[in-house]
Formats: sequence, structure tokens, C-alpha cells
Amino acid sequence: MRIAVVGTGYVGLVTGTCFAETGNHVTCVDIDERKVNKLRSGKITIYEPGLDVLFERNIKQKRLEFTTDLAEGIKGAEIIFLALPTPPGEDGSADLKYILKVADDLGPLLDKYTIIVDKSTVPVGTAEKVRDRIAANATVEFDVVSNPEFLREGVAVEDFMKPDRVVIGTESAKARKKMEQLYAPLVRQGNPVIFMDERSAELTKYAANSFLATKITFMNEIANLCELLGADVDAVRRGVGTDSRIGKRFLFAGIGYGGSCFPKDVQALARSSDDVNYDFKILDAVMDVNQQQKTKLIPQVKEYFDGDLAGKTIAIWGLSFKPYTDDIREAPALYNIEELLAAGAKVKAYDPEGMENVREIMGDRISMCENMYDCIDGCDALMIMTEWPVFRTPEFDQLSEKLSNKVIFDGRNLYEPEQMKELGYTYVSIGRQTVNPKVKKAVHA
Ligand code: UDX
Repeated sequence: MRIAVVGTGYVGLVTGTCFAETGNHVTCVDIDERKVNKLRSGKITIYEPGLDVLFERNIKQKRLEFTTDLAEGIKGAEIIFLALPTPPGEDGSADLKYILKVADDLGPLLDKYTIIVDKSTVPVGTAEKVRDRIAANATVEFDVVSNPEFLREGVAVEDFMKPDRVVIGTESAKARKKMEQLYAPLVRQGNPVIFMDERSAELTKYAANSFLATKITFMNEIANLCELLGADVDAVRRGVGTDSRIGKRFLFAGIGYGGSCFPKDVQALARSSDDVNYDFKILDAVMDVNQQQKTKLIPQVKEYFDGDLAGKTIAIWGLSFKPYTDDIREAPALYNIEELLAAGAKVKAYDPEGMENVREIMGDRISMCENMYDCIDGCDALMIMTEWPVFRTPEFDQLSEKLSNKVIFDGRNLYEPEQMKELGYTYVSIGRQTVNPKVKKAVHA
């Protein structure tokens, strides 16, 4: 099949590359000339494990091409995917300007029956808007289909190639058949392609992400309660997660969710609810709690240093919003760094992939380090913000030697409290009792 993908961000590039891998001819279109030139010369623009191999192979095989010219990009395409950004507008609702602009441009360019697919996460009713905008200028028959993407960053290729399910919103039999053909290689194991109307498909994506964000947030509140009641969130997690109705996944307490999807999508669903005068109370609570959760360790850091961080240097391990990505959008680390700087502390940071992106927005306000041990050298405390595996088993001898105080504030619960006790650390984590709070005046909030 000939396919076009408009937008070469995370979702667009993964979609384009993976559909090329299943034998289609894919042209990716993006207005960013620099990006397109880089991609054309065979250089990948995002860090996503495993994507580079597929990307190189399909460029070589000439199944994957890039252009800035929409007309050229969609020439001969039977299906056009729209994988464009839907950033939050001023009121938090999803801004559709990029999608609707492309819809306007597409109308006059279509020269035969074409399926236009909304891959971006878009509010309910967007497919109708896209259809109207294309119809205003089109002279041929076309269908607009909603096909939300559920891939996770860091495991995007695996998620795309073996999705738990594919959701397709369309009432056109012709579009349904084509989409079934396109996805057939990805669902051979028997995972379902679920067909529904467009509005339900659009809402499914928001419902899934908001539910997951709620699940995490619920556990974060249980964790906060554990600290106050003398319980251990890890034990509680195991106890509740073994109930198959609840499930083991997405129950890890920490310093909140981040990334490009959960924060934006929860907010957008809340705004969509407002638009129809529905007071979706849980969503407001989820957003509030998550915002507080991100910097919940800061008061404890301040308390440890008797309320005065001036002149202190804090080491940060982990900048990306989660491991295996260089994505720092809404990353809890950024909020913590701002609070530390505002309190007069200096910050040294290390992240396996995210440092370049942070440098772009923070410049020399913090120092970036070559490795995780340089990062702690001479620091007064260590804060852990992202659960990269390399942080899970550090050489504690080096840690003890290089850190000025034996104190760790762990936002991702990487270590066993017992072990930290034996090592003589003050160890503050999430939803568990602080270890050795008296090693140096530390008090648990
Ligand atoms: C998410 C959805 O999972 C995916 O289906 C959708 O397409 C896009 O949004 P992603 O943003 O890549 O994917 O990250 P995900 O792995 O879902 O994690 C989201 C956030 O939740 C991260 O900040 C992560 O640290 C946090 N999280 C996750 C927890 O705090 N606890 C958990 O138990 C799981």
C-alpha cells in the first residue's frame, strides 16, 4: 500500500517507519525543513530503542521517504495519516490548528478516493471537523477515520508492532476494509482490531490515558497516606495488585506522571467535559494531586538542611520523564530543579539520554555531568528523579565517598530501605518510612 504520514514527531515517525517495515511505501511529510533534511540523510531525529534499525533498513529499501511538500508526499497515497501536534491551548483544551490547517490544504490535493486518518489524540468531534474542512475544497470521495495511537515512548516499536488492540473509528465499510488490511500484519497473534464510531474512538484514547493517570495518582495518594500511617506502599501495592480486577501494572508510586500524553490528555478531557457542562471531578483531583506530587520531596530536602539550601549543591539522577526516552516534557525533574534553584541551591545533573534537551531549555543554569558518579562528586545530597536501570545498583562505596552527606531523596523507590539502613544512609523515598532520619537532622514530613 502507498501511505503518507503528515507530521514526523514521535507518533508520526514510529507510524511511518513501522508501516514501511510491514512492506508499505511510506512518505512522511513535515513542514520543518531542517528535520526533513536530517531524516532524508538517514539521521534519526528522536531516541527510541530499536527504531533506528528499522528506520535505516526502510530508507535503504526505499520504502521510507521524507518531504516538506504535502502535494508530493500524498501523491498516490491510499491512506493519509495525520500525526500532528495537539498542544494544550490557553484553557487546556487541545489546540487543533495544525490538524485543521492540513485538512484545509488536503482538500484540493486529493485526486482519487483517499482515507484520511486522525492518529493524533484529538477531542471528540474532530473527525467531523476534519471532514468538513476537507469537503469544503475536495472534488473526490474520501473518508475520515479516527485511529488513536496507544504506543508508549521507550517501547514504541514493540507497542506499535504488537499492539494490545487497535481502535478504529469509522462507519464506512470501504475504509474499514482498507484499515483491516493495513493492520493485519500487526495483529496476527489474535489481538483485536476494535471497530466503532469515530466519536467513541476519539474518546477511547482520552479515557485510557486518564484512567491510567488516575490509577497512578490513586497509588500516589495511598503512598502519601502510608508515610503518615506507618505503612509501606510496596507491600500495599503487592497486596492490591494481585487482585486480577486491579492488575499489577501501573501501580508504582513515585513523584508523579509526566510526559507528552498524560498531563495534556487529562487536561484536555477535563476541558471537553466543561464544554458539555459535565463536572468530571476525578480528573480535577488527579491533576491537582499530580502537580503536588512532583515536588513532594522538596520540603524534606529543605528540612534536612534546616530550611537553608543556599550554597548547597544537589545532584540529580534522571531528567527524562521516564527511562528509555530523551523526552523531558513535563518531567518531574524539571520542576524539582526549578524549586532547588529558587531556594538558592546549585544543581548538578546526569541522565543517560535527556541532558541535551534539558541543556536547550536551561542553558548553564545547571551543570550537566559526564556520568552518574561525576554528578554526585562534592554534592550535599542526591535526588533520584527517573528510574533508569543504571541507577538501581550503584557502587555505594563511590557514593559514600563522593557525597558530602549520606543522604538520598529517591522519587522512584529504587532501593530497599533495609539495605540503606545497613549502609547508614538517610533515605527518603515515596510511601515508605524514612530510613535513619536522625543521621543528620532529617525529619520526615
Ligand atoms: C502513555 C500511555 O501509556 C500510552 O498508551 C499513550 O499512547 C501515551 O501516553 P507514555 O507517555 O509514553 O505513554 O508513558 P507511560 O509509560 O505510560 O508512563 C507515563 C507516566 O506515568 C511516566 O511519567 C511514568 O513515570 C509514570 N508512571 C507509570 C508511574 O508514575 N507509575 C507507574 O506505575 C507507571
